[in-house]
Amino acid sequence: MDNVPAMADVMVTAFEDDPNVKYQFSHATDPKELRCILHRLFMDEIRAGKPFNGMYAAMGEGGVIGGCLTVPSGNLDSWSFNNTLRFVRKFVRHPMPLRTVARLLKTNSWTARKRAEIMGDRDYLYLFAVGASERGKGVGGAHMRHITGIADALGWPMYLENSKQRNLPFYERYGFKTVEAVPVNGAVGAPTLWLMVREAEVRSGR
Ligand SMILES: CC(C)(COP(=O)(O)OP(=O)(O)OC[C@H]1O[C@@H](n2cnc3c(N)ncnc32)[C@H](O)[C@@H]1OP(=O)(O)O)[C@@H](O)C(=O)NCCC(=O)NCCS
Repeated sequence: MDNVPAMADVMVTAFEDDPNVKYQFSHATDPKELRCILHRLFMDEIRAGKPFNGMYAAMGEGGVIGGCLTVPSGNLDSWSFNNTLRFVRKFVRHPMPLRTVARLLKTNSWTARKRAEIMGDRDYLYLFAVGASERGKGVGGAHMRHITGIADALGWPMYLENSKQRNLPFYERYGFKTVEAVPVNGAVGAPTLWLMVREAEVRSGR
């Protein structure tokens, strides 16, 4: 069975109230329109990303209940290029206001610059997104334990951008620390983005 649409649904539910998402797609005043846009984007990010990223689904009795998408730093350029190509192709059928497209492109390059500034030339695991269909039931935590375990086994730090203050204790619980809190694109009135890093834990006895 193809779980990608169900996984995209879960990510849409998780992200439709995300401050950065609402800022990027502020033209979509109808929640249904925002969900459609996000669904297309997550489908692309999951499908286009396949050769470049780690995508994990959490399965419950009724199907997908959580998802997590990570990208190794060495694949970030190819992943992002691939996503942009898909976005441009889809844009023909689903146009968006130019100011939205311009802002998205600006944010892409601004966040890439920030990542490079903070992480330098180290290898790291980028946490692009983690989401649960029902919050507070341990699904997000299970994803975090899985991916931090992979990063630790590789000896790699992890990096993420988060625009929800409420999520800070969740990430801190798994070892992330805020390195910088800045408005998206450095723009006045934009939501705050917390740029967080987690250093690898070296376990003794190996
Ligand atoms: C953040 C998220 C992935 C956590 O997954 P989860 O399955 O709810 O997390 P767990 O059950 O393992 O842990 C609960 C913790 O999540 C955090 N949390 C964030 N938003 C929450 C919410 N609306 N309800 C409950 N917990 C929430 C809290 O820190 C909570 O800890 P607490 O119980 O001490 O308050 C999930 O709430 C979610 O999908 N949020 C929307 C999408 C998002 O913000 N993703 C992260 C940005 S990349």
